[in-house]
Amino acid sequence: MKQTLCSVASNVEVMPGIHLMWIEAPNIACSVLPGQFITVRCGDFTLRRPFSVHQVSSREIALLLTVAGKGTLWLSQRQTSERIDILGPLGKGFSIEPESRNLLLVAGGIGIAPLVLLMQYASSQHQITLIHGASTAAQLYPSAMPKTGPSSAGKKRSKLSPLPKGVQFIPVTEDGSMGKKGMATDILPDFLDWADQVYACGPVDMYKAMAEMSLRAKRSNLKLTKCQVSLEVRMGCGFGACYGCTINTKKGLKQLCHDGPVFELDDIILQEVRI
Ligand code: FES
Repeated sequence: MKQTLCSVASNVEVMPGIHLMWIEAPNIACSVLPGQFITVRCGDFTLRRPFSVHQVSSREIALLLTVAGKGTLWLSQRQTSERIDILGPLGKGFSIEPESRNLLLVAGGIGIAPLVLLMQYASSQHQITLIHGASTAAQLYPSAMPKTGPSSAGKKRSKLSPLPKGVQFIPVTEDGSMGKKGMATDILPDFLDWADQVYACGPVDMYKAMAEMSLRAKRSNLKLTKCQVSLEVRMGCGFGACYGCTINTKKGLKQLCHDGPVFELDDIILQEVRI
């Protein structure tokens, strides 16, 4: 974990209200693991904002940030070469068990952010299926969508790296504008027999639906697939000093910033998670 002043390499709005920001941070780029996060000091706000690392290159890291308040608005307005104060990498991320070959990734909306880094880290020995659910086609991960030619939307999309080769991408939209109509969890059962491990990032309601599935499978003595999920709650310090992010789990009290943000789905008491 290191606090550094880093330059913004680029900052583009890639989807409505969502920015892809590349930051020159070689020390983090070479050490961050999928699912870990950084915190950014946003203007004069005392509390730093946490962001999952979305992608890495040899010297840079990328964030996929949603403008959701004054802090993220400030960050979204930073220009190339401006310096920002970042701290990381922080927390514990996803892990791939040595014997796992078939990885099922489930993203709800902007929850795609850390899963793209997980795909970058998976080796050629892994088969990956990504289910991405969003309310409408415009909010699906753009690089997986057909390019639309020289329109501004097409140019913006091209700023995002394509998904790694061989990834099976399954879009699901609530309004049916792309892929199947419904929620990501509607089609999840079709892939559970295939998957050796499941990784998810999205809203708590998505995790509740997944936990229900797991409970039903247990009751019916069906195959149980291990599932790691990335949780999001309000944070203070971001590195285990303030206890502001403590959650209750089946294994006792845990600090999300230090013991997570990735946990086994079965260990979380979802009813007690407050965002
Ligand atoms: Fe301070 Fe986690 S945010 S302990």
